[in-house]
Amino acid sequence: MEKKVVILAIESSCDDTSAAVIVDGVLKSNVIASQKVHEEFGGVVPELASRAHQQNILPVVDTALARAGVRKEDLSAIAFTRGPGLLGSLLVGTSFAKGLALALGIPLIDVNHLQGHVMAHFIRPASPDGVQSTEYRCPSFPFLCLLVSGGNSQIIKVTGERLPVTGKHMPEFEIIGQTIDDAAGEAFDKCAKVLGLPYPGGPWIDKLAKLGDATKYPLAKPNIAGYDYSFSGLKTSFLYTLRDMLKAEGAETIDALAERVPNLREDLCASLQATVVDILMRKLRKAAKDLGINQVAVAGGVSANSALRQAFIDYGKKYGWEVFIPPFSFTTDNAAMICQAGYFKYLDGDFCAIDEVPYAKTQI
Ligand code: KG4
Repeated sequence: MEKKVVILAIESSCDDTSAAVIVDGVLKSNVIASQKVHEEFGGVVPELASRAHQQNILPVVDTALARAGVRKEDLSAIAFTRGPGLLGSLLVGTSFAKGLALALGIPLIDVNHLQGHVMAHFIRPASPDGVQSTEYRCPSFPFLCLLVSGGNSQIIKVTGERLPVTGKHMPEFEIIGQTIDDAAGEAFDKCAKVLGLPYPGGPWIDKLAKLGDATKYPLAKPNIAGYDYSFSGLKTSFLYTLRDMLKAEGAETIDALAERVPNLREDLCASLQATVVDILMRKLRKAAKDLGINQVAVAGGVSANSALRQAFIDYGKKYGWEVFIPPFSFTTDNAAMICQAGYFKYLDGDFCAIDEVPYAKTQI
């Protein structure tokens, strides 16, 4: 009987410690430990993140193996997120992966976190009977992927062969547009902070926007050439709108202003969200039209946003796109997407030397 390909992946690039197992191409487990410790600081504190990864990594890996029903001796290789991310966080996952791979005498596979987000579209989740989900559907090549997270806003052209193939499994990635300043998630988080909402602010903006009027506060949209994005002007426009309202109402704080202006936070969140989604979708539409590509995907933490997900469905209907929107569990950081990339790299024989080091910054 042919030996199964069993990949364990570890993701520790920011503030989520995650481990996942794929057996013969089917996802068997995906365990995520989120770090609550950062909430009171209004953002991720790198030192605390590294420490929490140290505390979480062993139980998270153990649980991922147990849920998948595999022993560590069954593993074929270990994949890990090498970057980009917080260096101290990455070092925890990288060192753990190296130690385990050395102890077991199996190969190591380094995965670019951004490529991992795109590869989320190729994850084949197990169905309840443990085999393969019937809902499995992945984009065909070439496709465009809008990658939107706390640190990135990019339009990526993904090329390769139609899977399954006998040739190379990992596709090629080409950035055709990206933000020249802030990322979309950063814009959400920073504006949310100004409104006094908890960190991360993106999900709160999404929640409050459902109760607001998106046309109430017109905000600035950038005028950038090509397929690049910019969100810093929008952020400033948001700040100025609030500053002017505080002045006009003679209020000293946002809370005081909210008492005088009905539905203030809800309307501001709805206006901000609609503007971000419009900026993202217009450029994506331009890229899809110019390149004649109608397979369009979205990935990264901001792809959890309900208005963005709805915009994908609407654009798909309007412009004849086949759209790919990941399940919520694969939008924010998770090891399943790293495992998927690791599985393809394993099939391609693309391994990493034991003395490779993590990187804080890199392109896709
Ligand atoms: O991909 P991710 O988990 O982490 C990296 O940046 O790598 O993305 C996190 C970002 C944060 O900015 C967070 O506010 C945003 O994703 N986010 C959302 C939503 N859920 C998460 N933004 C808008 N709406 C959401 N529902």
